[in-house]
Amino acid sequence: MSNYHIKHLEEYYQVYRKSVREPEHFWEEIAEEHFLWYKKWDNVLTWDFSKPEVKWFEGAKLNITVNCIDRHLTTSANKTAILFEPNNPNEAAEHITYRQLHKRVCQFANVLKDKGIKKGDRVCIYLPMIPELAIATLACARIGAIHSVVFAGFSSTALATRINDSDCKMVITSDGSYRGAKTIDLKGIVDEALNECPCVESVLVVKRIHSEINMKEGRDEWIAPLLEEAYEDCVPEVMDAEDPLFILYTSGSTGMPKGMVHSTAGYMVYTAYTFKNVFQYKEGDVYWCTADIGWITGHSYIVYGPLANGATTVMFEGVPSYPDFGRFWDIVEKHKINQFYTAPTAIRALAKEGLELVEKYDLSSLKVLGSVGEPINEEAWHWYNDNIGKKQSPIVDTWWQTETGGIMITPIPFATPTKPTYATLPFPGIQPALMDEEGKELKENQVSGRLCIKFPWPSMARTIWGNHQRYKDTYFSAFENKYFTGDGALRDEVGYYRITGRVDDVIIVSGHNLGTAPIEDAVNEHPAVAESAIVGFPHDIKGNALYGYVILKDVGEGRVHDNLRKEINQIITEHVGPIAKLDKIQFTKGLPKTRSGKIMRRILRKIASNDTSNLGDTSTLLNPEVVQDIMDNVL
Ligand code: WT7
Repeated sequence: MSNYHIKHLEEYYQVYRKSVREPEHFWEEIAEEHFLWYKKWDNVLTWDFSKPEVKWFEGAKLNITVNCIDRHLTTSANKTAILFEPNNPNEAAEHITYRQLHKRVCQFANVLKDKGIKKGDRVCIYLPMIPELAIATLACARIGAIHSVVFAGFSSTALATRINDSDCKMVITSDGSYRGAKTIDLKGIVDEALNECPCVESVLVVKRIHSEINMKEGRDEWIAPLLEEAYEDCVPEVMDAEDPLFILYTSGSTGMPKGMVHSTAGYMVYTAYTFKNVFQYKEGDVYWCTADIGWITGHSYIVYGPLANGATTVMFEGVPSYPDFGRFWDIVEKHKINQFYTAPTAIRALAKEGLELVEKYDLSSLKVLGSVGEPINEEAWHWYNDNIGKKQSPIVDTWWQTETGGIMITPIPFATPTKPTYATLPFPGIQPALMDEEGKELKENQVSGRLCIKFPWPSMARTIWGNHQRYKDTYFSAFENKYFTGDGALRDEVGYYRITGRVDDVIIVSGHNLGTAPIEDAVNEHPAVAESAIVGFPHDIKGNALYGYVILKDVGEGRVHDNLRKEINQIITEHVGPIAKLDKIQFTKGLPKTRSGKIMRRILRKIASNDTSNLGDTSTLLNPEVVQDIMDNVL
């Protein structure tokens, strides 16, 4: 019998030791007992990090939607699978049972098939947080199409880049979206993107805000009438364990966003098993993760992980500030949420608003609180623990990445004693290593280094779409035979991990992973800009905010500069999206560079963070004189 559900610390250590001693046996037991397979695997694991190549459950046949939907129909057909809470609190919540979900996914899948979508085709989904987003995702998985969900806050340029990179045949979108008191013209953004996307043959449009939109003849169609006609059952496509399930883009420190490819069986097993344990999900619980399905958190812990466990998972369309900053707590009370999973940036924003908005609501249903996306600072941890959890609900600070597919380092609630700002212990099956800069593993406790993982786990991304070399270079080249996360971490005296942040040029703003390169590219598009460099600096609510150093072609006057700042942020909004806007823009004559011409971001980061005590030796720079000038004019 596998230990599918870990209940105390001794059991955690027991399970963990087994997962390291006999990893194949460990995962095989879990896979055997808790999922439906058309055919079992021939090999549990084959791997070689030098290629890199990793295969889990090779030879097995399955369909993930059968595991997430059909198999619950015998026991829980009338249980709520998805509980949809609309943006407008006065609009009724929608309870979608497992039976209804089955029907809606099948109908959607049949529409996709009618439109010519086949196994292996890529489908881009650009939708707000409405039930159709989850349903479209599952419909793709039903027929073996590879979904590529793009967060509906991204701009048309960012959308076009992603559609073209993975050669999507179809886009699924809506006439618009609600965001607090505002509406957003999603279809307009799609139309603009598609001017650049010859690969897209058809667009299906969900009606959400009833706005007047353009429908392009022969390309665009409303989905509602097609769904009405569609047959209510759809035979699931039989997938190989290693067939790609989805592509999800994440920022890199340089260049294009990376289309991380996740495969079917390993991803299913790992997200299901982590969901059960990290949230201690019990039958009848109502679970809510506030992320958007456009991010990996939503894929793994709104859709696949919860549904694979037959859970009730909440989808919230709105924002934490609408109609006021009490909205999250209103929803917790209204739906008697048992597990609540959110990001530190949201916690910090809500903590600023005063306790009246918390105390108005009955939060006694809460059992487990989660945090994800960036390090949670001590103050936010305590506010969350004291005021939301009333010191009764353990906080799981879960560290993981788009690339890892599932939660990697985390407390197990009621088993692992928590410690503020520490993600604590590796999940069973995860073997972390801290490395020094020379590439040596630091084996003892009380050390800090670069965080690597030295053994494969089932939900790891298998490649970058269309660029396996980049996958190898980014993750498997810094340290031999290890997956490098890009994060720094320390390990305390009892073996607990604390993630200290990125050690590359990725900046996490409000929990969103932003690469500097695409933002700099956007800034450089402005006709007045000669060159730019973007770094992060600490911000009370966002965790980090963006600071841009910009060299202009002609030095203008102050008043002109303010206009320029607006224009630069406008270009960023168009090319990347509003989340990438710069908080501060300093116009400068030069940027510190090494003799080989590389911008010394470390120095720029320190200046932007007001921490110039230890800039290091700047004399070897190509242009050491610019450093003082930048410091004198810092904003
Ligand atoms: C990066 C990955 C995976 C969920 C959403 C983000 C940072 C994530 C934590 C945490 C400290 C964290 C890391 C990581 N991060 N969770 N609990 N503590 N840092 O996914 O966009 O791929 O970003 O987010 O720096 O590398 P992502």
